[in-house]
Order: sequence, then structure tokens, then C-alpha cells
Amino acid sequence: MTSSPRNTAMAIRRVKISALGTYVPPRLLTNADLEKMVETTNDWIVERTGIRERHIVEKGVATSDIAVEAAKKALAFRGIEASDLDAIFVATVTPDMLFPSTACLVQHKLGAKKLWGVDLSAACSAFLFALQNGAQFIATGAHQRVMVIGADVMSSIIDYTDRATCVIFGDGAGAVILEAADEGSEGNSFIDFLHEVDGSGGGSLYMPGGGSLNPTTHETVDKKMHYVHQDGGAVFKFAVRKMADVCVQLLEKNGLKGSDVDVFIPHQANLRIINATADRLSLRTESVVINIDLYGNTTAGTIPLAMQTAIEDGRLKKGSLVLLASVGAGFTVGATLLRWAY
Ligand code: UT7
Repeated sequence: MTSSPRNTAMAIRRVKISALGTYVPPRLLTNADLEKMVETTNDWIVERTGIRERHIVEKGVATSDIAVEAAKKALAFRGIEASDLDAIFVATVTPDMLFPSTACLVQHKLGAKKLWGVDLSAACSAFLFALQNGAQFIATGAHQRVMVIGADVMSSIIDYTDRATCVIFGDGAGAVILEAADEGSEGNSFIDFLHEVDGSGGGSLYMPGGGSLNPTTHETVDKKMHYVHQDGGAVFKFAVRKMADVCVQLLEKNGLKGSDVDVFIPHQANLRIINATADRLSLRTESVVINIDLYGNTTAGTIPLAMQTAIEDGRLKKGSLVLLASVGAGFTVGATLLRWAY
């Protein structure tokens, strides 16, 4: 007896990314601008981070707004309507507000009907974590199309008098559509993933105010607890070690080496972290996607934005073996292996 995947709760289907859309707000914040705001220099920022400019929203533009722009582009690329989606997962650490979820706001702004959605909080690894959450609904046959959005308006939680954090972050969004890959196809689908969290690193990168532990008061605002607080050195050391570790483990588990990877798309937090990872994995230089110079660290937005860069420069093609990797606040760590589907 045969049954369709739709009717078989545990029928495992291969999953692919069928569309990508990205968006950054038009306003630029350059290193020269930051030189006028805090005691820093273009040379320091470029040398220590690789960043030259980042995009930030105008006042009143929220995460749901940039998420919707990215979502519309992905839907247009795929040639479908928002109501053709079954679910929307929004990866973000800067929701418009604590509730309703940004996923609800995005659904409403897109005019999508009869779907569900939820936000996922895992800082810089949130896009990869959401990607795997979405993929499971396709793999089981529960859903036909899931949209995963990584979007952050980091400028809303950055202290622009703190030179150690304000030079790093930017705003941006990317959306992908997940669908079942062709039957029996191994050439265009997700292969494997490896995720990890280590809450012992929570104090190294966090926003202490505004939650249930420190509800917003005049005092929390005076103490700047509504901004990102970071021990840059501690995060840097962890990221350099763990981004490579997780990639090595995932590649080995699948009988692959760094040199097999066609396109490496890492979270863009610091050029030195990316280069250290590339060295340890013995990646081919041309396989490493870097756009941190143009966008800075957009948290959940970096990986889809880097996918877009790799498509535009012709590196990301149908059948490319792609390794995605992230390390972020939490700490959170993720890696995903896939073959690009279009
Ligand atoms: O995606 C989320 C995950 N986040 C990350 O992955 C961030 C990881 N960490 C980093 O990228 C780096 O640690 C930073 C870019 C944040 C800082 O770079 P660093 O090379 O680790 O600098 P540092 O914190 O060790 O500071 C070195 C010096 C200090 O001065 P003193 O104490 O040596 O006099 C800082 O005060 O650099 C100073 N400094 C700056 N100087 C000019 C810190 N920020 C700046 C700045 N301009 N913007």
C-alpha cells in the first residue's frame, strides 16, 4: 500500500530552498559617520572587524517592515502569493515588541491567510535554527511551503555612544521559502545540520533590560540596560573556536572535507573570525562569502544576505555544496550542509 507524504506523518521528504529575498534599508552609516559620533577611526574598524559601512533604518521602521520587504521579494521570485505559505518563522532578537510576535505582524502586513507563524530567538544563530525548524515541517509532509525570515533592526538596541558595540552592528533582513525537493533528489536539498547552545556564555553578550528579570524602569534606562552589552574578547575567542569545531564535525560526519565545500556562508560578525574558520577548515579562498564590509553584523540577517551576495557574484549555483555556519549570543552555535537547488 502506498500513501502520499501529505498523509503520512513521518514520511521523510528531502527539503530545498526554492527562493530567496533580501532587504537592507537605504540609509548608510559609514565608518566616517561613526568617527564623528565616538572615539574611533576607519582604520581601527576595518582592521579589527572588516566593516566599512552598514545600513540602518529610519526612525519608525521596525523589524517586521524590513522582514516584509525581504518576504515580498522571495514570494515574487517563486511566483506565489503569501497565502500559498503554510507557516512563517521569523528569526530575530529585535522583535517590533515583545508581543504580538513579529511573525503575526509579518503575516498581517503580507495579507497572508490561513497560515501560522512564530518568532525564534537565538541571536546570530537564529536564522539557521529557524531554517531547521521550518525544514522539519516540510520533511514530515506536514507542510508544503514554509517561509523562514532572518531580520534584525540592531540599531534599535545599540548604544551609539559605546564604540565597542556601535561600530559592529547593522540592520537587514532575508527570507527563504522551503519546499520539498524532487523525489529521490540528492543534488538540490538539505543534507545535515549540527546545532548547540551553551548558556554559560550568556553573560558575554546580552541585553539585560526589558525582560521579566529587569522590567523597564527609569533606573534600567538610566543604566543603559536596554542596549546590547558585550564582552567582545570572550565572544571572539568562543566564536573562533566553535565556528570551526561545528563545521569540522558536520563535514566529518558526512565524509567531507573543507576543500569539498563550494560555498561557505558564515555569519558575518568579524572578518577575523571568518578568516580563522576558513584557515582551520582549509577552505578554498574563493568559496568563502564575505560581505561584512557592506552590511556589518545584521544578526539574523547575515546568512541570507550573504546567500544573496553569493548568488549575485555567480558563486552560488544549482548543485553547489553549501556550508552555513553561525555563532552568537547565548552562546548559540549552528551549521547546515545543503546542495543549492536553483
Ligand atoms: O554576532 C555576535 C557575536 N559577536 C561577535 O562575534 C563579536 C566578537 N568580538 C569582536 O568582534 C571583537 O572582540 C571586537 C570587534 C568587538 C573588538 O575587537 P578587539 O580586537 O577584540 O578589541 P578589544 O575589545 O580587545 O579592545 C582593544 C582596544 C581597547 O583599548 P585598550 O583597552 O587596549 O586601550 C578598546 O577600548 O580597542 C579599543 N576599542 C576601540 N578603539 C577604537 C574598542 N572599540 C574600539 C573602536 N575604535 N570602535
